Amino acid sequence: MTASDFPLSESMAAAEPTQTAISIKDLSFFYGTKKVLEGVSFEIHPQKVTAMIGPSGCGKSTLLKALNRIGELEGKVTITGKVEFFGQDIYDKRVNLNRLRRQIGMVFQRPNPFPPASTITWPTAFAFLAARAARNWMS
Ligand SMILES: Nc1ncnc2c1ncn2[C@@H]1O[C@H](COP(=O)(O)OP(=O)(O)OP(=O)(O)O)[C@@H](O)[C@H]1O
Ligand SMILES: [Mg+2]
Repeated sequence: MTASDFPLSESMAAAEPTQTAISIKDLSFFYGTKKVLEGVSFEIHPQKVTAMIGPSGCGKSTLLKALNRIGELEGKVTITGKVEFFGQDIYDKRVNLNRLRRQIGMVFQRPNPFPPASTITWPTAFAFLAARAARNWMS
Protein backbone atom coordinates (compact mmCIF):
# COMPACT_ATOMS: atom_id res chain seq x y z
CA MET A 1 0.00 0.00 0.00
CA THR A 2 1.28 3.47 -0.87
CA ALA A 3 0.46 6.86 0.64
CA SER A 4 -1.71 7.74 -2.35
CA ASP A 5 -4.21 4.92 -1.73
CA PHE A 6 -4.45 5.29 2.02
CA PRO A 7 -7.12 5.49 3.31
CA LEU A 8 -9.10 3.48 0.77
CA SER A 9 -11.96 5.48 -0.75
CA GLU A 10 -13.93 2.33 -1.69
CA SER A 11 -14.58 1.58 1.99
CA MET A 12 -17.40 4.09 2.36
CA ALA A 13 -19.41 3.09 -0.71
CA ALA A 14 -19.64 -0.55 0.29
CA ALA A 15 -20.17 0.12 3.98
CA GLU A 16 -22.88 -1.66 5.97
CA PRO A 17 -24.34 -0.40 9.27
CA THR A 18 -22.90 -3.46 11.01
CA GLN A 19 -19.38 -2.34 10.13
CA THR A 20 -17.40 0.18 12.13
CA ALA A 21 -16.59 3.27 10.07
CA ILE A 22 -14.62 5.13 12.70
CA SER A 23 -13.26 3.53 15.84
CA ILE A 24 -11.92 5.79 18.58
CA LYS A 25 -9.86 4.09 21.26
CA ASP A 26 -8.55 5.72 24.42
CA LEU A 27 -8.10 9.08 22.68
CA SER A 28 -6.50 11.93 24.61
CA PHE A 29 -5.81 15.40 23.22
CA PHE A 30 -3.68 18.19 24.68
CA TYR A 31 -3.33 21.80 23.51
CA GLY A 32 0.18 22.38 24.85
CA THR A 33 -0.06 21.06 28.39
CA LYS A 34 -3.83 21.58 28.61
CA LYS A 35 -5.64 18.27 28.50
CA VAL A 36 -8.96 18.59 26.66
CA LEU A 37 -9.83 14.94 25.96
CA GLU A 38 -8.94 12.01 28.17
CA GLY A 39 -9.38 8.36 27.26
CA VAL A 40 -12.31 8.77 24.86
CA SER A 41 -13.51 5.56 23.21
CA PHE A 42 -16.54 4.95 20.98
CA GLU A 43 -17.50 3.80 17.50
CA ILE A 44 -19.26 5.43 14.55
CA HIS A 45 -21.20 3.20 12.17
CA PRO A 46 -22.08 3.79 8.50
CA GLN A 47 -25.64 4.86 7.64
CA LYS A 48 -26.29 5.78 11.29
CA VAL A 49 -26.47 9.21 12.88
CA THR A 50 -24.12 9.61 15.82
CA ALA A 51 -24.61 12.68 18.01
CA MET A 52 -22.21 14.15 20.55
CA ILE A 53 -23.65 16.35 23.25
CA GLY A 54 -21.98 18.18 26.08
CA PRO A 55 -21.49 21.63 27.61
CA SER A 56 -19.59 24.35 25.77
CA GLY A 57 -15.86 23.78 26.00
CA CYS A 58 -16.06 20.06 26.84
CA GLY A 59 -14.15 19.14 23.68
CA LYS A 60 -16.70 18.18 21.01
CA SER A 61 -15.04 20.19 18.25
CA THR A 62 -11.61 19.04 19.38
CA LEU A 63 -12.74 15.43 19.08
CA LEU A 64 -14.10 16.03 15.57
CA LYS A 65 -10.82 17.69 14.59
CA ALA A 66 -8.93 14.63 15.83
CA LEU A 67 -10.93 12.42 13.44
CA ASN A 68 -9.52 13.96 10.28
CA ARG A 69 -6.24 15.27 11.68
CA ILE A 70 -7.19 18.93 11.43
CA GLY A 71 -6.50 19.26 15.16
CA GLU A 72 -2.78 18.96 14.68
CA LEU A 73 -2.83 22.21 12.67
CA GLU A 74 -3.70 24.12 15.86
CA GLY A 75 -0.16 24.63 17.08
CA LYS A 76 1.52 22.42 19.63
CA VAL A 77 -0.85 19.56 20.28
CA THR A 78 -0.32 16.04 21.61
CA ILE A 79 -2.66 13.26 20.58
CA THR A 80 -2.54 9.78 22.07
CA GLY A 81 -4.72 6.72 21.57
CA LYS A 82 -6.00 5.36 18.30
CA VAL A 83 -8.44 6.41 15.57
CA GLU A 84 -9.21 3.89 12.85
CA PHE A 85 -11.13 4.49 9.64
CA PHE A 86 -12.42 1.14 8.43
CA GLY A 87 -9.64 -0.55 10.36
CA GLN A 88 -6.89 1.76 9.09
CA ASP A 89 -4.95 3.82 11.59
CA ILE A 90 -5.46 7.45 10.51
CA TYR A 91 -2.37 8.50 12.46
CA ASP A 92 -0.19 6.13 10.43
CA LYS A 93 2.60 8.18 8.84
CA ARG A 94 1.67 6.85 5.37
CA VAL A 95 -1.80 8.46 5.49
CA ASN A 96 -2.57 10.81 2.62
CA LEU A 97 -4.01 13.73 4.61
CA ASN A 98 -5.82 15.35 1.69
CA ARG A 99 -7.57 12.11 0.93
CA LEU A 100 -8.40 11.48 4.57
CA ARG A 101 -9.90 14.97 4.96
CA ARG A 102 -11.92 14.55 1.77
CA GLN A 103 -13.49 11.44 3.28
CA ILE A 104 -13.95 12.64 6.84
CA GLY A 105 -15.27 16.16 6.41
CA MET A 106 -16.22 18.71 9.02
CA VAL A 107 -18.60 21.68 9.12
CA PHE A 108 -17.10 24.47 11.23
CA GLN A 109 -19.10 26.45 13.77
CA ARG A 110 -17.76 29.68 12.30
CA PRO A 111 -16.54 30.12 8.72
CA ASN A 112 -12.79 30.32 9.25
CA PRO A 113 -10.99 28.88 6.26
CA PHE A 114 -7.62 30.46 7.05
CA PRO A 115 -5.88 31.39 10.29
CA PRO A 116 -5.95 35.18 10.97
CA ALA A 117 -2.36 35.97 9.92
CA SER A 118 -1.89 33.31 7.27
CA THR A 119 0.08 34.02 4.12
CA ILE A 120 -3.18 33.66 2.18
CA THR A 121 -5.26 36.06 4.27
CA TRP A 122 -3.05 39.14 4.04
CA PRO A 123 -2.55 39.15 0.25
CA THR A 124 -6.28 38.47 -0.16
CA ALA A 125 -7.16 41.36 2.16
CA PHE A 126 -4.68 43.61 0.36
CA ALA A 127 -6.11 42.69 -3.06
CA PHE A 128 -9.64 43.38 -1.80
CA LEU A 129 -8.73 46.81 -0.36
CA ALA A 130 -6.71 47.75 -3.46
CA ALA A 131 -9.62 46.82 -5.74
CA ARG A 132 -12.03 48.89 -3.61
CA ALA A 133 -9.67 51.88 -3.58
CA ALA A 134 -9.31 51.68 -7.38
CA ARG A 135 -13.08 51.50 -7.79
CA ASN A 136 -13.59 54.54 -5.54
CA TRP A 137 -10.86 56.48 -7.33
CA MET A 138 -12.40 55.82 -10.75
CA SER A 139 -15.97 56.66 -9.75
N1 LIG B 1 -6.56 25.97 19.45
C1 LIG B 1 -6.76 25.86 20.76
N2 LIG B 1 -5.75 26.12 21.63
C2 LIG B 1 -5.92 26.01 22.97
N3 LIG B 1 -7.07 25.63 23.55
C3 LIG B 1 -8.11 25.37 22.74
C4 LIG B 1 -8.01 25.46 21.31
N4 LIG B 1 -9.21 25.13 20.77
C5 LIG B 1 -10.00 24.84 21.81
N5 LIG B 1 -9.35 24.98 22.98
C6 LIG B 1 -9.89 24.74 24.31
O1 LIG B 1 -10.23 23.37 24.40
C7 LIG B 1 -11.43 23.19 25.13
C8 LIG B 1 -12.43 22.43 24.27
O2 LIG B 1 -12.81 23.29 23.20
P1 LIG B 1 -13.80 22.79 22.07
O3 LIG B 1 -13.88 23.90 21.08
O4 LIG B 1 -13.35 21.47 21.57
O5 LIG B 1 -15.17 22.62 22.88
P2 LIG B 1 -16.63 22.39 22.34
O6 LIG B 1 -17.22 21.26 23.15
O7 LIG B 1 -16.63 22.22 20.86
O8 LIG B 1 -17.35 23.75 22.74
P3 LIG B 1 -18.61 24.48 22.05
O9 LIG B 1 -19.85 23.71 22.46
O10 LIG B 1 -18.58 25.85 22.61
O11 LIG B 1 -18.38 24.45 20.57
C9 LIG B 1 -11.89 24.58 25.55
O12 LIG B 1 -11.41 24.81 26.87
C10 LIG B 1 -11.18 25.49 24.58
O13 LIG B 1 -10.92 26.75 25.14
MG1 LIG C 1 -17.51 23.25 19.25
